[in-house]
Amino acid sequence: MKKLHFGLFENAQANDTGRATWRHPDNQRDQYDTLEYWLKIAKICEEGGLDFLFLADAWGWAEVNGVRPDVASIEGLDLPRLDPFIVASAILAHTEKLGVVMTGSTLLEQPYAFARRMATLDQLSKGRVGWNIVTTGTADTAVKAFGVPMVAHDERYAMADDFVQLVYKLWEGAWEPDALTKDKQGAFANPTKVHAISHEGPYFRSEGYGNSAYSPQGTPVLFQAGSSPAGRAFGGKHGECMFVGGGSVEQLAQHSRAIRAAAVESGRDAGSVRVMAEFRCIIGETEEDAQRLYQEVLDSQTPEVTVASYAWFTGLDLSAYDPATPMTDLHTELSQSQVSRFAGMTVGDVLKDWHEHGAGSKAFVGTAEQVADRIIELAEGADLDGFLLAPVIQPGSTIDFVEKVLPILRERGALGESRGATLRERLVESDEATITGDHPAVSYRAQAPAIAV
Ligand SMILES: Cc1cc2nc3c(=O)[nH]c(=O)nc-3n(C[C@H](O)[C@H](O)[C@H](O)COP(=O)(O)O)c2cc1C
Repeated sequence: MKKLHFGLFENAQANDTGRATWRHPDNQRDQYDTLEYWLKIAKICEEGGLDFLFLADAWGWAEVNGVRPDVASIEGLDLPRLDPFIVASAILAHTEKLGVVMTGSTLLEQPYAFARRMATLDQLSKGRVGWNIVTTGTADTAVKAFGVPMVAHDERYAMADDFVQLVYKLWEGAWEPDALTKDKQGAFANPTKVHAISHEGPYFRSEGYGNSAYSPQGTPVLFQAGSSPAGRAFGGKHGECMFVGGGSVEQLAQHSRAIRAAAVESGRDAGSVRVMAEFRCIIGETEEDAQRLYQEVLDSQTPEVTVASYAWFTGLDLSAYDPATPMTDLHTELSQSQVSRFAGMTVGDVLKDWHEHGAGSKAFVGTAEQVADRIIELAEGADLDGFLLAPVIQPGSTIDFVEKVLPILRERGALGESRGATLRERLVESDEATITGDHPAVSYRAQAPAIAV
């Protein structure tokens, strides 16, 4: 039986991209801007035995292509949101075991400051943080917001590669793990274990000493979710955990194979990358009960959200077409895959489909036993290492999952075991808190000359 790991997908905003279920009477996501909300969610995750809480993030506005930009404000879509690093800091202060994974953009962050921010959180949490490396899909509006030049899709991955090389030097090479002696009769730090770094890359430069000492994990656990050829190659080289969207056993198996092949291509072991799929579910006492709960969720979202959300991806206003219009009659210069994947369907069919799950994965609707069966089927059929639970209603979805599904998985021997207190030991089941083996970060460890004594 595969040993699985679980994280919770969260977003410090009232809805997830392209969906708006904040109106559901039981949904507390609209409280995303209170400390109480985050501490409640973190406690459920920690006590329930989830490995980590994941905080997604985005910059820029999805409504840029919108036919109804007002819907974004009316429904709290995408904006406003809070800074995931500051939310994480509060969560880490109130938990002891839970990992927290933050999304940070290599297009928009400054690597030197970013390295220190991550090291600070890793230090204060005793090694419980991870970084979801993103190149920012909404780059067109994000660069306008930041007032910086646009960088094309594949070049953003070249930039990400340069970014990570610099932060590896700072995390792994600037201060050796045992540099701090804090000996009041001797030295605070051993100068022979402190190294100047030098980085002159195509996008980023840095010279001199690292601003923070070696943290418990050194490099935080590295997550990535690129799915384009450039994204896959980057993930294969740098990712320790790769996220994929939801899908059928066959679709997930294809993703999992491609990710492991990309790792091998980069000279790494296929098994050194953990593959985790997004998973959304509605759990009922019976199948009928689950279907009723699902319908309540669907009814809580207005039809305007569906129209506006589809338009963000494609620029097309489906409400302007006769519902019987075949999708093959439509054309867009934006996301063509969001039109072509509906070939054979009508505008009316797509409105219904998009209302249910937007561009994301379809929810699995059933009893706790059926959910556990499905998880095992997906994990075994697609060679997955775990799942990122995407809640539909908070905190209800998370409570249902940890109280009803995890015990079944535990009983069936499908839950992974932690080897230590840090996120890396817990999730990657490594014997070491720091990054090891064939990962490129290892090669940056203390290679520069130390301070002369
Ligand atoms: C589970 C999951 C979570 C993701 N979270 C984020 C996120 O928080 N922020 C973001 O900008 N992109 C996020 N993405 C998008 C990916 O980083 C990536 O841009 C996307 O999969 C497309 O890949 P590509 O850029 O290589 O084409 C996520 C993707 C998945 C599957």
